Amino acid sequence: MVSPLAILLVLASAATRAAAFEYYTFDGPGFPSCHNVSRVYNATSVDDVASLVKSLTASNNNTAVRVRAAGKGHMWYDTQCSDSQTVLVRTEDLHAISDLDLPAGAESGSVWVEAGVTFFQLAEYLHERGASVGYTLTNWNISFGGSVAMGAHRSSIREDSMVAAGVLAMDIVDGAGEVRRVVRDESDDEWLAASTSLGLLGIIVRIQLKVYPDTKVYAKQETLDEKDVLDGDVYGLIAPYATANLWWWPYKRKFHQRYYDTVPANSTPQEGFQNTFSVTELEAVTARTMLDSGKYLPTSNMLAEEIFFGLWSKPNFREKKTNEAIDEWPVYGWNYDVLIGGLYPDQKPEWEYGLAGYTLELAFPVTMANQMLKRVRQLFDDELKKGIVMTSTYRSGINIKFGKAYYDLLGQVTYNTSDGADWSKGAIMFDFPSYRPTIGDHKRFNEPFYHKLANTLIDEFPCRPHWTKNTREVFARSVKNLDPDHLRRFNAVRKRFDPNGIYRSIVGEILGFY
Ligand SMILES: Cc1cc2nc3c(=O)[nH]c(=O)nc-3n(C[C@H](O)[C@H](O)[C@H](O)COP(=O)(O)OP(=O)(O)OC[C@H]3O[C@@H](n4cnc5c(N)ncnc54)[C@H](O)[C@@H]3O)c2cc1C
Ligand SMILES: *[C@@H]1O[C@H](CO)[C@@H](O)[C@H](O)[C@H]1NC(C)=O
Ligand SMILES: *[C@@H]1O[C@H](CO)[C@@H](O)[C@H](O)[C@H]1NC(C)=O
Ligand SMILES: *[C@@H]1O[C@H](CO)[C@@H](O)[C@H](O)[C@H]1NC(C)=O
Ligand SMILES: *[C@@H]1O[C@H](CO)[C@@H](O)[C@H](O)[C@H]1NC(C)=O
Ligand SMILES: *[C@@H]1O[C@H](CO)[C@@H](O)[C@H](O)[C@H]1NC(C)=O
Repeated sequence: MVSPLAILLVLASAATRAAAFEYYTFDGPGFPSCHNVSRVYNATSVDDVASLVKSLTASNNNTAVRVRAAGKGHMWYDTQCSDSQTVLVRTEDLHAISDLDLPAGAESGSVWVEAGVTFFQLAEYLHERGASVGYTLTNWNISFGGSVAMGAHRSSIREDSMVAAGVLAMDIVDGAGEVRRVVRDESDDEWLAASTSLGLLGIIVRIQLKVYPDTKVYAKQETLDEKDVLDGDVYGLIAPYATANLWWWPYKRKFHQRYYDTVPANSTPQEGFQNTFSVTELEAVTARTMLDSGKYLPTSNMLAEEIFFGLWSKPNFREKKTNEAIDEWPVYGWNYDVLIGGLYPDQKPEWEYGLAGYTLELAFPVTMANQMLKRVRQLFDDELKKGIVMTSTYRSGINIKFGKAYYDLLGQVTYNTSDGADWSKGAIMFDFPSYRPTIGDHKRFNEPFYHKLANTLIDEFPCRPHWTKNTREVFARSVKNLDPDHLRRFNAVRKRFDPNGIYRSIVGEILGFY
């Protein structure tokens, strides 16, 4: 059934074909995720998505039309769509949660969410019912559809941390507007493709997730000397914990090691709540002024790293019941509040104060952790020899994350690939956010360094890109590191789901699927 609204929409988009516009990432105007959008449609139900796709393809004789899902826009760079005119289907209003099944005493259970449900919404819903999603997490205001599509993950070697690893089944609206159910089955290429689909099979509309009884956890942090990490047992710093990561301060030559694990729920009354991305207006204005001057003056960046390091050494947590700052490690609280948390009530996310960033994220076999970190140190030192001091310009340093091996076709932590590298022990991710000056040409201090770093790592290591944290150039250069057989098997499934390529994106084009 094609809804009257969908027909009107198609007519409207045909009439306004000339008036294509940019669609933005979470950073807003000036940060396009798509260049050529004809219409943004707020989907309200699974049937609505299916009938919209049917009417769009029917009126275009199955050619020319391009469609992409839009979640919360929590991505970087112009890689969401292709450059042809595209209709976006927003999933924010597709947010039902149903069929929670976690019998008392059971180790795990399941729940169905529609694609637009965010981590924040589900965490609140589950906490009220004594459940949680465990460690297959990303940040708060991100949709499950967007996370599963793009292979998003938290940081853990011991536990599954790809969001897709927590998925039991999903429904996808394919290129013909039909709803297809794909169920976890590692012997089935349809599942292995859907597990990290890049949105190229269609719009994920519903997802069944694994859930667990809610737990309390602790968060603890140590400060380490750089040499103790670069020459140390990196795996051993991470693998013992439920979730853990490192933050690198290259100018200070220090690391923070953050780790989390469960504690008995009755062992502590504390209800710590982590602040992941919020700042006060004063902090934002101070940081912006300092980092903008760092476009020209490295001393400003050195001072910024010094200040950020000092702030990040203390717990970024408050007590949820009183909103009082917590200033001692370890911090205790409920699973989601401690692992992710959200915004403090009197603050805003940093990007709402105009603090924007560039980013780069590459995954390497964890067996190459020391080699990779030392190579990056060498690149920093090569600049130093020229008298150029490079720093981290992000408030929590360079984020070094980890991922337990998880098998699918296009995931960042898959294994058994033709590069012959040992991915079976898991991966280390180098996630390098950097400040984007609000002034001048918006280029960073010593801009060429960032490109040299990316190119060197991609050319010298069997590394793989995160699917929403890299530029088109980084994707194009990384293709050589991907398993051609995985790409071929993925594309065979894609052709069955979307023979006319209506869901194509720049990423899919770079991977050679069209
Ligand atoms: C502040 C911040 C923190 C982040 N933290 C992490 C992190 O800890 N770990 C990590 O791995 N990533 C992280 N990310 C990246 C984020 O997880 C991904 O970019 C994710 O894809 C964003 O989901 P979204 O709902 O915002 O989707 P959007 O940004 O709207 O879309 C992203 C892509 O997914 C496609 N898509 C969206 N919904 C669907 C759907 N239902 N079906 C098919 N395709 C779809 C879109 O077409 C687009 O190509 C972070 C991003 C930000 C901005
Ligand atoms: C879709 O929803 C967004 C956010 O609620 C709103 O700003 C926008 O106007 C809506 N679009 C339409 C076409 O209703
Ligand atoms: C529609 O597509 C078919 C083949 O897919 C083609 O034979 C036909 O001519 C097309 N019609 C129009 C109006 O373009
Ligand atoms: C989450 O994202 C939406 C945009 O989709 C935004 O309007 C809202 O303010 C965000 N929520 C928080 C808590 O930042
Ligand atoms: C937008 O897409 C149309 C085709 O769908 C194409 O003709 C046009 O050149 C594109 N515009 C831009 C700016 O890429
Ligand atoms: C690994 O690859 C071999 C050869 O391609 C294959 O037989 C085996 O099933 C693969 N293992 C997994 C987990 O896919």
